Amino acid sequence: MQKITIVGVGRVGESTAHNLAKHETCREIMLIDIMEGVPQGTALDIQESAPIYDFDTKLTGSNELKDMAGSDMVVITAGVPRKPGMSRSDVLETNLAVLYGIVDEVVKHAPQAMLLTVTNPVDVLTYAAWKRTGWPRHRVFGMAGVLDSARMASFVAMETGFSVKDINAMVLGGHGDSMVPMTRFTTINGIPVEHFLSKEKIEKIIKRTREGGAEILNLRKTASAYDAPAAAIASMIDAISHNRRHILPAVAVLDGEYGLKDICMGVPCVFGEHGMEKVIELPLIAQEAAEFKRSAESVRADLAKLKN
Ligand code: LAC
Repeated sequence: MQKITIVGVGRVGESTAHNLAKHETCREIMLIDIMEGVPQGTALDIQESAPIYDFDTKLTGSNELKDMAGSDMVVITAGVPRKPGMSRSDVLETNLAVLYGIVDEVVKHAPQAMLLTVTNPVDVLTYAAWKRTGWPRHRVFGMAGVLDSARMASFVAMETGFSVKDINAMVLGGHGDSMVPMTRFTTINGIPVEHFLSKEKIEKIIKRTREGGAEILNLRKTASAYDAPAAAIASMIDAISHNRRHILPAVAVLDGEYGLKDICMGVPCVFGEHGMEKVIELPLIAQEAAEFKRSAESVRADLAKLKN
């Protein structure tokens, strides 16, 4: 990739930029934020780490959305984070207005780009971005599942003591309290996690995964998670820029998969050079299907607010 723009230079945006630069995922990173001096200062700070990390990626900061021109990928992290005690849906109204303002500029200045939504509530905002652009679904998607799955894998590693490198976890559904951690698809070097952990321990891990974002927020009080979210964003972009055809759970527009249409939520997807190239439809057992349906209903409840 030549150019990636990150709109919203809070901690998620900054950590994402550093990740992408360190891995030389692209030649150029444009950081855009309305706060004067912040994107410029952040770009310079990261740039000054280049001789140490040994990367050639060039970083620039700007307060003007038009500077995203020519981007292959635009990542939207701008918006207000939730405060302790709030749900992700509580920030919908504010963040929707922010998102529309940005998306309209993306359509104007980077009409060939892919759009990756991160701002919460991510399922609803990804849907809103997709509708607003009118772009095909392979170019508009959101980040949540990689983060939620990484959290689940981390908790499995902590609980079993096994190498996190052996652990594959999968979390589907909306990125909210009704997300669906998929125990049946969570394995340790191919061995189902149930072989190593009791039902009670797995239940605890599922609960902790669902509340993973809130756990960090409650500890930090003034900031949501950003290191793991940024790593998750970078891994999705890496899959695209290297055309890896990596299977990653992500927020995608559904077009009949899982019996759903006209909605965005977390499903396993194939990521390659064209972006979200395919939604993988897993055969769900009754309990999983019921949880997935409940999750879809909670996303739909937020989508209804969008249409009002
Ligand atoms: C979290 C926020 C980013 O899960 O949604 O930490």
